[in-house]
Amino acid sequence: FARKTLTTAITGASLALLAVQVQAAQTVNLGHTLSDSSHYSVGADAFKETLERLSDGEFEVVEHTAGALGGERALIEGLQIGTVDVVITSTGPLGNFVPETYVLDLPFLFEDYDQARCVLDSDLGQDLLDKMSDHDIVGLAWSENGFRHMTNSQRAVKTPADAEGLKVRTMENKVHMEAFEQMGVHPTPMAFPEVFTALQQGTVDGQENPITVIVATKFWEVQDHLSLTGHVYSPAAILGSPILLDGLSDEERGWFIEAARASAEATREEVSRLEREGIELLRENGMTVETEIDKAPFQEAVQPAYEIYTEQYGSEMLERVRASS
Ligand code: PAF
Repeated sequence: FARKTLTTAITGASLALLAVQVQAAQTVNLGHTLSDSSHYSVGADAFKETLERLSDGEFEVVEHTAGALGGERALIEGLQIGTVDVVITSTGPLGNFVPETYVLDLPFLFEDYDQARCVLDSDLGQDLLDKMSDHDIVGLAWSENGFRHMTNSQRAVKTPADAEGLKVRTMENKVHMEAFEQMGVHPTPMAFPEVFTALQQGTVDGQENPITVIVATKFWEVQDHLSLTGHVYSPAAILGSPILLDGLSDEERGWFIEAARASAEATREEVSRLEREGIELLRENGMTVETEIDKAPFQEAVQPAYEIYTEQYGSEMLERVRASS
C-alpha cells in the first residue's frame, strides 16, 4: 500500500511539474512578409532556435510568414499595440515611425556589404536601435535585406534615361520615392503583399528589391528584365513589442537580444550566399540581367534627394554614418 501511495504521489508530482512546464511556455508571435524559403525565414528559424534554447522552453516562437499578419507597416503597428511580438522588416516603412532611420535609406549611401554591416554594427547602429523605444518599438538587432536592384516588364534598363517613364512600385518610404522621382520614374508606393498581383496585372511596370527577394518571390514569373543598379542598401531590423518586452526580466530580455543577433548573423550569411548564386538562378528562369551598369549617372540623378533629406532632417546623422564607415 505504501509503495502504491508513493508511486501515485510521484506520478501526481510529475504531472503537476509537466502542467507547470506546459503552462510556462509563452508564445512569441514572429511576423515577416517573405516566403518560407526566404532569407528572413532563415533568420526567423535562427531566432526561434536560439530563444527556445536559451530560455529552456519558457518561450515558444510561432512564425507567421508571407505577410500572413499584413505588410511591414501593419506589422510595425502591430508591435505598438501588441498584436505581434517580434517583427523582421526592412527599413522601408520604419522611417514613418522612427524618422532617425531615414538616413539609412539614402541612395548610394554604402558602397558594399562590408561597409553597410560595419556601420550598422557600430555605436551609431546601436543608437538607432535605442532611439526606437521613444516610438513604442524595441530595437533588438540590425539584420539584412540587401542591395536593391530594378526589375521591369518593359525593357532593359542601363541608364536613368532607360528607366524614365516607367511606373515602379516602391516601398512606402519618402526618401526612396523622392530619389525615384528625380530619376524620372513614376514611384508607386505599395505594401509588399500586393506587389506580385500588381506586376501580374500591369498596374505597375516594375519594382526594385534585392536578389534575395527577387529569388524568394519568383519575380521572374512576372518580370523579364533585371538591372543590377544596387541603388540603395536595404537594412532589415528585428523589432520587438514593448508590450511583451517591457514586462520581462533583464535576463529574459537578454535572450531576445541574443536570439535577434543570431538571426541577423544567419540572415547575412544567406544574403551573401544568394548574392553569389542567385543571379544565375534568375537567368535560368528566363530573366535577362544587365550586369554592367555605370552607376555614376544614377548617382547624379538622385543627388537632389540628399539635399531634400538634409533640409528636412539636418546633416548630423549623415555625417555620423560617414564617420562610422
Ligand atoms: O520591397 C519591400 O517592401 C521589402 O524589401 C520586402 C520585400 C518586404 C522585404 O523587407
